[in-house]
Amino acid sequence: MIADRKDDHVRHAVDQRRADSGGNDFDCVTFVHHALAGIDSGEVSLAVDVAGKQWDTPLYVNAMTGGSAKTGEINRKLAVAARETGIPIAAGSMSAFFRDPAVADTYRVLRRENPHGFVMANVNATASLEQVLRAIELLEADALQIHLNAVQEVVMPEGDRSFGSWPRQIEHLVAHVPIPVIVKEVGFGLSRQTVAWLRDAGVSVADVGGRGGTNFARIENSRRPAGDFAFLESWGQSTPTCLLDCAGLDGIDIAASGGIRSPLDIARALALGASATGVAGAFLDTVVRADTDALVAQIRTWLDQLRQILTVLGARTPADLAGCDLLITGEVASFCALRGIDAAALAHRSPWWRESRDRGGVIGE
Ligand SMILES: Cc1cc2nc3c(=O)[nH]c(=O)nc-3n(C[C@H](O)[C@H](O)[C@H](O)COP(=O)(O)O)c2cc1C
Repeated sequence: MIADRKDDHVRHAVDQRRADSGGNDFDCVTFVHHALAGIDSGEVSLAVDVAGKQWDTPLYVNAMTGGSAKTGEINRKLAVAARETGIPIAAGSMSAFFRDPAVADTYRVLRRENPHGFVMANVNATASLEQVLRAIELLEADALQIHLNAVQEVVMPEGDRSFGSWPRQIEHLVAHVPIPVIVKEVGFGLSRQTVAWLRDAGVSVADVGGRGGTNFARIENSRRPAGDFAFLESWGQSTPTCLLDCAGLDGIDIAASGGIRSPLDIARALALGASATGVAGAFLDTVVRADTDALVAQIRTWLDQLRQILTVLGARTPADLAGCDLLITGEVASFCALRGIDAAALAHRSPWWRESRDRGGVIGE
Protein backbone atom coordinates (compact mmCIF):
# COMPACT_ATOMS: atom_id res chain seq x y z
CA MET A 1 0.00 0.00 0.00
CA ILE A 2 2.72 2.49 1.06
CA ALA A 3 4.91 1.21 -1.78
CA ASP A 4 2.16 1.94 -4.35
CA ARG A 5 1.61 5.38 -2.85
CA LYS A 6 5.32 6.20 -3.13
CA ASP A 7 5.32 5.19 -6.79
CA ASP A 8 2.20 7.37 -7.32
CA HIS A 9 3.92 10.34 -5.66
CA VAL A 10 6.94 10.08 -7.93
CA ARG A 11 4.78 9.81 -11.06
CA HIS A 12 2.49 12.74 -10.15
CA ALA A 13 5.39 14.90 -8.90
CA VAL A 14 7.28 14.50 -12.18
CA ASP A 15 4.17 14.94 -14.40
CA GLN A 16 2.94 18.00 -12.51
CA ARG A 17 6.37 19.59 -12.52
CA ARG A 18 6.46 19.41 -16.32
CA ALA A 19 2.97 20.94 -16.58
CA ASP A 20 3.80 23.75 -14.14
CA SER A 21 4.24 27.35 -15.34
CA GLY A 22 7.58 27.55 -13.52
CA GLY A 23 6.91 30.83 -11.70
CA ASN A 24 6.96 31.15 -7.91
CA ASP A 25 7.53 33.67 -5.11
CA PHE A 26 11.32 33.58 -5.54
CA ASP A 27 10.61 35.76 -8.60
CA CYS A 28 9.62 38.52 -6.15
CA VAL A 29 13.15 38.57 -4.65
CA THR A 30 15.81 40.49 -6.62
CA PHE A 31 19.41 41.36 -5.72
CA VAL A 32 20.39 45.02 -6.09
CA HIS A 33 23.38 44.96 -8.45
CA HIS A 34 26.44 46.93 -7.31
CA ALA A 35 28.79 46.86 -10.29
CA LEU A 36 31.97 47.28 -8.20
CA ALA A 37 31.07 44.84 -5.43
CA GLY A 38 32.65 41.83 -7.16
CA ILE A 39 35.53 39.82 -5.69
CA ASP A 40 37.75 37.05 -7.09
CA SER A 41 36.04 33.71 -7.48
CA GLY A 42 38.92 32.00 -5.64
CA GLU A 43 38.03 33.96 -2.49
CA VAL A 44 34.60 32.29 -2.26
CA SER A 45 33.94 29.30 0.01
CA LEU A 46 30.57 27.58 -0.20
CA ALA A 47 30.96 25.90 3.22
CA VAL A 48 28.21 26.40 5.81
CA ASP A 49 27.53 25.39 9.41
CA VAL A 50 24.33 23.43 9.91
CA ALA A 51 23.33 21.92 13.25
CA GLY A 52 26.87 22.26 14.55
CA LYS A 53 28.43 20.44 11.57
CA GLN A 54 30.28 21.90 8.62
CA TRP A 55 28.87 21.10 5.20
CA ASP A 56 31.03 21.81 2.12
CA THR A 57 27.98 23.18 0.30
CA PRO A 58 24.74 24.92 1.24
CA LEU A 59 22.78 22.41 -0.87
CA TYR A 60 21.28 19.01 -0.02
CA VAL A 61 19.04 16.43 -1.64
CA ASN A 62 15.79 16.55 0.31
CA ALA A 63 13.60 13.64 1.41
CA MET A 64 11.79 11.74 -1.32
CA THR A 65 11.93 8.04 -1.84
CA GLY A 66 12.33 4.47 -0.59
CA GLY A 67 9.88 1.71 0.29
CA SER A 68 9.32 0.19 -3.18
CA ALA A 69 11.59 -1.42 -5.76
CA LYS A 70 11.32 1.58 -8.09
CA THR A 71 11.99 4.17 -5.41
CA GLY A 72 14.86 2.07 -3.99
CA GLU A 73 16.50 2.37 -7.41
CA ILE A 74 15.87 6.14 -7.37
CA ASN A 75 17.51 6.27 -3.93
CA ARG A 76 20.52 4.43 -5.32
CA LYS A 77 20.92 7.01 -8.09
CA LEU A 78 20.43 9.94 -5.71
CA ALA A 79 22.99 8.43 -3.31
CA VAL A 80 25.60 8.05 -6.05
CA ALA A 81 25.05 11.66 -7.11
CA ALA A 82 25.32 12.84 -3.48
CA ARG A 83 28.56 10.88 -3.07
CA GLU A 84 30.08 12.20 -6.32
CA THR A 85 29.25 15.82 -5.49
CA GLY A 86 29.71 15.68 -1.70
CA ILE A 87 26.27 17.00 -0.85
CA PRO A 88 24.11 15.77 2.06
CA ILE A 89 21.06 13.63 1.32
CA ALA A 90 17.85 12.64 3.11
CA ALA A 91 15.85 9.41 2.83
CA GLY A 92 12.16 9.56 2.09
CA SER A 93 9.73 8.73 4.89
CA MET A 94 10.74 5.44 6.49
CA SER A 95 7.16 4.43 7.46
CA ALA A 96 7.25 1.63 4.87
CA PHE A 97 10.31 0.15 6.64
CA PHE A 98 8.50 0.23 10.00
CA ARG A 99 5.58 -1.71 8.46
CA ASP A 100 7.73 -4.15 6.48
CA PRO A 101 11.43 -4.66 7.27
CA ALA A 102 11.79 -6.47 3.91
CA VAL A 103 12.05 -3.05 2.20
CA ALA A 104 15.03 -2.01 4.39
CA ASP A 105 17.42 -2.20 1.49
CA THR A 106 15.54 0.45 -0.51
CA TYR A 107 16.68 2.90 2.21
CA ARG A 108 19.99 1.31 3.30
CA VAL A 109 21.28 1.83 -0.25
CA LEU A 110 21.71 5.52 0.67
CA ARG A 111 24.47 4.59 3.10
CA ARG A 112 25.90 1.70 1.09
CA GLU A 113 26.51 3.92 -1.96
CA ASN A 114 27.63 6.88 0.12
CA PRO A 115 29.58 5.51 3.10
CA HIS A 116 31.21 8.79 4.16
CA GLY A 117 28.44 11.23 3.24
CA PHE A 118 25.99 13.14 5.44
CA VAL A 119 22.80 11.06 5.43
CA MET A 120 19.49 11.96 7.09
CA ALA A 121 16.74 9.57 8.18
CA ASN A 122 13.14 10.74 7.72
CA VAL A 123 10.07 9.87 9.81
CA ASN A 124 6.64 11.32 10.52
CA ALA A 125 5.72 12.94 13.82
CA THR A 126 3.91 9.84 15.11
CA ALA A 127 6.94 7.52 14.86
CA SER A 128 7.87 5.91 18.19
CA LEU A 129 11.31 6.34 19.71
CA GLU A 130 12.00 2.65 19.09
CA GLN A 131 11.16 3.04 15.37
CA VAL A 132 13.26 6.19 15.08
CA LEU A 133 16.28 4.49 16.64
CA ARG A 134 15.90 1.62 14.16
CA ALA A 135 15.75 4.10 11.26
CA ILE A 136 18.88 5.87 12.50
CA GLU A 137 20.72 2.57 12.89
CA LEU A 138 19.72 1.37 9.42
CA LEU A 139 21.19 4.45 7.73
CA GLU A 140 23.90 5.19 10.29
CA ALA A 141 22.21 8.56 10.04
CA ASP A 142 23.96 11.84 10.83
CA ALA A 143 20.69 13.71 11.46
CA LEU A 144 16.98 12.91 11.75
CA GLN A 145 14.31 14.69 9.74
CA ILE A 146 10.76 14.70 11.13
CA HIS A 147 8.25 15.78 8.51
CA LEU A 148 5.06 17.73 9.20
CA ASN A 149 2.44 17.17 6.50
CA ALA A 150 -1.04 17.69 7.96
CA VAL A 151 -2.42 19.23 4.75
CA GLN A 152 -1.07 16.36 2.65
CA GLU A 153 -2.64 13.82 5.05
CA VAL A 154 -6.02 15.56 4.89
CA VAL A 155 -6.11 15.46 1.09
CA MET A 156 -4.60 11.94 0.87
CA PRO A 157 -7.55 9.53 0.46
CA GLU A 158 -6.07 7.05 2.96
CA GLY A 159 -4.39 9.79 5.04
CA ASP A 160 -4.16 10.30 8.78
CA ARG A 161 -6.71 12.61 10.44
CA SER A 162 -5.14 12.86 13.92
CA PHE A 163 -2.46 15.48 14.52
CA GLY A 164 -2.91 16.30 18.19
CA SER A 165 -0.04 14.11 19.40
CA TRP A 166 2.60 15.72 17.17
CA PRO A 167 3.97 18.43 19.52
CA ARG A 168 4.39 16.03 22.48
CA GLN A 169 5.99 13.37 20.28
CA ILE A 170 8.46 15.84 18.78
CA GLU A 171 9.51 16.91 22.29
CA HIS A 172 9.92 13.25 23.29
CA LEU A 173 12.00 12.39 20.22
CA VAL A 174 14.22 15.47 20.53
CA ALA A 175 14.91 14.60 24.17
CA HIS A 176 16.04 11.04 23.36
CA VAL A 177 17.50 10.96 19.87
CA PRO A 178 21.33 11.03 19.89
CA ILE A 179 21.73 13.09 16.66
CA PRO A 180 20.50 16.56 15.58
CA VAL A 181 16.79 16.78 14.76
CA ILE A 182 15.53 18.69 11.73
CA VAL A 183 11.80 19.37 11.46
CA LYS A 184 10.50 20.04 7.96
CA GLU A 185 7.30 20.80 6.13
CA VAL A 186 6.65 19.17 2.77
CA GLY A 187 5.56 22.26 0.81
CA PHE A 188 3.08 24.23 2.93
CA GLY A 189 5.62 26.20 4.97
CA LEU A 190 6.51 26.76 8.63
CA SER A 191 5.31 29.98 10.29
CA ARG A 192 7.47 32.06 12.67
CA GLN A 193 5.34 30.81 15.58
CA THR A 194 5.90 27.17 14.60
CA VAL A 195 9.65 27.67 14.23
CA ALA A 196 9.85 29.44 17.61
CA TRP A 197 8.00 26.49 19.17
CA LEU A 198 10.41 24.03 17.52
CA ARG A 199 13.39 26.01 18.78
CA ASP A 200 12.04 25.96 22.33
CA ALA A 201 11.54 22.19 22.01
CA GLY A 202 15.25 21.78 21.24
CA VAL A 203 15.01 21.14 17.49
CA SER A 204 18.35 21.96 15.76
CA VAL A 205 17.10 22.93 12.29
CA ALA A 206 13.74 24.05 10.89
CA ASP A 207 13.43 23.37 7.15
CA VAL A 208 10.61 25.72 6.19
CA GLY A 209 9.51 23.51 3.25
CA GLY A 210 7.34 26.21 1.67
CA ARG A 211 4.93 26.47 -1.25
CA GLY A 212 6.27 27.06 -4.76
CA GLY A 213 7.58 23.69 -5.91
CA THR A 214 6.24 20.17 -5.44
CA ASN A 215 2.59 20.55 -4.42
CA PHE A 216 1.32 17.71 -2.25
CA ALA A 217 -2.25 19.07 -2.14
CA ARG A 218 -2.31 18.72 -5.94
CA ILE A 219 -0.55 15.35 -5.92
CA GLU A 220 -2.93 13.83 -3.36
CA ASN A 221 -5.94 15.44 -5.03
CA SER A 222 -4.96 13.68 -8.28
CA ARG A 223 -5.21 10.41 -6.35
CA ARG A 224 -8.81 11.17 -5.28
CA PRO A 225 -11.41 9.85 -7.76
CA ALA A 226 -13.54 13.01 -7.35
CA GLY A 227 -10.57 15.43 -7.23
CA ASP A 228 -12.62 17.36 -4.70
CA PHE A 229 -9.82 19.09 -2.78
CA ALA A 230 -8.59 21.39 -5.56
CA PHE A 231 -9.33 24.42 -3.37
CA LEU A 232 -6.39 23.51 -1.09
CA GLU A 233 -3.81 23.63 -3.88
CA SER A 234 -2.68 27.15 -2.97
CA TRP A 235 -2.66 26.55 0.80
CA GLY A 236 0.30 27.65 2.90
CA GLN A 237 3.20 30.08 2.80
CA SER A 238 5.81 30.17 0.06
CA THR A 239 9.47 29.54 0.88
CA PRO A 240 10.60 33.20 0.59
CA THR A 241 7.72 34.38 2.81
CA CYS A 242 8.57 31.72 5.42
CA LEU A 243 12.18 32.88 5.48
CA LEU A 244 11.15 36.52 5.91
CA ASP A 245 8.69 35.49 8.63
CA CYS A 246 11.51 33.76 10.56
CA ALA A 247 14.02 36.60 10.26
CA GLY A 248 15.89 37.31 13.48
CA LEU A 249 14.84 34.11 15.30
CA ASP A 250 17.93 33.00 17.20
CA GLY A 251 18.73 29.57 18.59
CA ILE A 252 17.72 27.45 15.60
CA ASP A 253 19.19 27.05 12.11
CA ILE A 254 16.80 27.71 9.23
CA ALA A 255 16.95 25.60 6.09
CA ALA A 256 14.99 26.43 2.95
CA SER A 257 13.25 24.01 0.65
CA GLY A 258 10.22 24.15 -1.59
CA GLY A 259 10.47 25.55 -5.11
CA ILE A 260 14.26 25.89 -5.45
CA ARG A 261 14.66 25.90 -9.26
CA SER A 262 18.17 27.25 -9.86
CA PRO A 263 21.41 28.49 -8.25
CA LEU A 264 19.81 31.95 -8.18
CA ASP A 265 16.99 30.62 -5.96
CA ILE A 266 19.63 29.10 -3.66
CA ALA A 267 21.35 32.49 -3.40
CA ARG A 268 18.00 34.21 -2.78
CA ALA A 269 17.13 31.75 0.00
CA LEU A 270 20.55 32.19 1.63
CA ALA A 271 20.19 35.97 1.38
CA LEU A 272 16.83 35.67 3.15
CA GLY A 273 18.50 33.94 6.10
CA ALA A 274 18.65 30.23 5.27
CA SER A 275 21.79 28.33 6.32
CA ALA A 276 21.26 25.71 3.62
CA THR A 277 18.81 24.82 0.86
CA GLY A 278 17.14 21.52 0.00
CA VAL A 279 16.05 20.40 -3.44
CA ALA A 280 13.64 17.54 -4.13
CA GLY A 281 11.48 17.85 -7.28
CA ALA A 282 14.10 19.37 -9.59
CA PHE A 283 16.62 16.58 -8.83
CA LEU A 284 13.97 13.86 -9.01
CA ASP A 285 13.02 15.09 -12.46
CA THR A 286 16.63 14.78 -13.61
CA VAL A 287 17.17 11.21 -12.37
CA VAL A 288 13.82 10.05 -13.72
CA ARG A 289 14.10 11.83 -17.09
CA ALA A 290 17.84 11.30 -17.58
CA ASP A 291 20.17 9.46 -15.20
CA THR A 292 22.72 9.67 -12.40
CA ASP A 293 25.40 11.27 -14.59
CA ALA A 294 22.98 14.03 -15.56
CA LEU A 295 22.23 14.72 -11.91
CA VAL A 296 25.93 14.79 -11.03
CA ALA A 297 26.51 17.27 -13.87
CA GLN A 298 23.51 19.38 -12.79
CA ILE A 299 24.66 19.60 -9.15
CA ARG A 300 28.25 20.45 -10.17
CA THR A 301 27.00 23.15 -12.55
CA TRP A 302 24.66 24.60 -9.93
CA LEU A 303 27.46 24.79 -7.34
CA ASP A 304 29.81 26.42 -9.83
CA GLN A 305 27.13 28.93 -10.87
CA LEU A 306 26.30 29.63 -7.21
CA ARG A 307 29.97 30.43 -6.64
CA GLN A 308 29.84 32.90 -9.56
CA ILE A 309 26.73 34.59 -8.12
CA LEU A 310 28.51 35.02 -4.76
CA THR A 311 31.55 36.39 -6.64
CA VAL A 312 29.51 39.08 -8.39
CA LEU A 313 27.74 40.00 -5.15
CA GLY A 314 31.02 40.25 -3.20
CA ALA A 315 29.97 37.49 -0.79
CA ARG A 316 32.93 35.40 0.41
CA THR A 317 30.64 32.91 2.13
CA PRO A 318 26.95 31.96 1.90
CA ALA A 319 26.47 33.73 5.26
CA ASP A 320 27.70 36.99 3.66
CA LEU A 321 24.67 36.93 1.36
CA ALA A 322 22.55 37.91 4.37
CA GLY A 323 24.20 41.35 4.06
CA CYS A 324 23.30 41.90 0.38
CA ASP A 325 20.66 44.41 -0.70
CA LEU A 326 17.40 42.78 -1.79
CA LEU A 327 14.28 44.14 -3.43
CA ILE A 328 11.10 42.43 -2.23
CA THR A 329 8.12 42.97 -4.51
CA GLY A 330 4.68 41.61 -5.43
CA GLU A 331 2.99 38.94 -3.33
CA VAL A 332 5.99 38.64 -1.03
CA ALA A 333 5.92 42.39 -0.26
CA SER A 334 2.17 42.13 0.48
CA PHE A 335 2.85 39.25 2.87
CA CYS A 336 5.52 41.35 4.63
CA ALA A 337 3.18 44.33 5.00
CA LEU A 338 0.46 42.17 6.57
CA ARG A 339 2.88 40.31 8.91
CA GLY A 340 4.59 43.53 10.04
CA ILE A 341 7.95 42.72 8.39
CA ASP A 342 10.08 45.66 7.23
CA ALA A 343 10.85 44.45 3.70
CA ALA A 344 12.20 47.89 2.67
CA ALA A 345 15.07 47.53 5.18
CA LEU A 346 16.46 44.67 3.08
CA ALA A 347 17.00 47.06 0.16
CA HIS A 348 19.67 49.01 2.03
CA ARG A 349 21.57 46.74 4.36
CA SER A 350 24.88 46.25 2.48
CA PRO A 351 28.22 48.05 3.03
CA TRP A 352 27.73 49.53 -0.48
CA TRP A 353 24.54 51.24 0.55
CA ARG A 354 26.02 52.46 3.85
CA GLU A 355 29.09 53.87 2.11
CA SER A 356 26.98 55.80 -0.38
CA ARG A 357 24.82 57.13 2.46
CA ASP A 358 27.88 58.14 4.55
CA ARG A 359 29.27 60.08 1.58
CA GLY A 360 26.14 62.17 1.53
CA GLY A 361 23.77 60.38 -0.76
CA VAL A 362 23.42 58.14 -3.74
CA ILE A 363 25.87 58.40 -6.63
CA GLY A 364 25.18 61.42 -8.80
CA GLU A 365 23.66 63.52 -6.04
C1 LIG B 1 8.19 12.24 -4.91
C2 LIG B 1 8.38 13.00 -3.63
C3 LIG B 1 8.27 12.31 -2.43
C4 LIG B 1 8.47 12.98 -1.22
N1 LIG B 1 8.44 12.27 -0.05
C5 LIG B 1 8.76 12.90 1.11
C6 LIG B 1 8.90 12.15 2.31
O1 LIG B 1 8.73 10.94 2.32
N2 LIG B 1 9.22 12.82 3.45
C7 LIG B 1 9.42 14.19 3.46
O2 LIG B 1 9.75 14.76 4.49
N3 LIG B 1 9.28 14.91 2.33
C8 LIG B 1 8.97 14.30 1.17
N4 LIG B 1 8.89 15.03 0.01
C9 LIG B 1 8.95 16.51 0.11
C10 LIG B 1 10.31 17.09 -0.18
O3 LIG B 1 11.28 16.67 0.75
C11 LIG B 1 10.24 18.64 -0.20
O4 LIG B 1 9.97 19.10 1.10
C12 LIG B 1 9.18 19.15 -1.15
O5 LIG B 1 9.10 18.35 -2.30
C13 LIG B 1 9.44 20.57 -1.58
O6 LIG B 1 10.66 20.68 -2.28
P1 LIG B 1 10.75 20.80 -3.91
O7 LIG B 1 9.85 21.91 -4.31
O8 LIG B 1 12.20 21.02 -4.19
O9 LIG B 1 10.27 19.49 -4.45
C14 LIG B 1 8.73 14.38 -1.21
C15 LIG B 1 8.85 15.05 -2.44
C16 LIG B 1 8.69 14.37 -3.64
C17 LIG B 1 8.85 15.12 -4.92
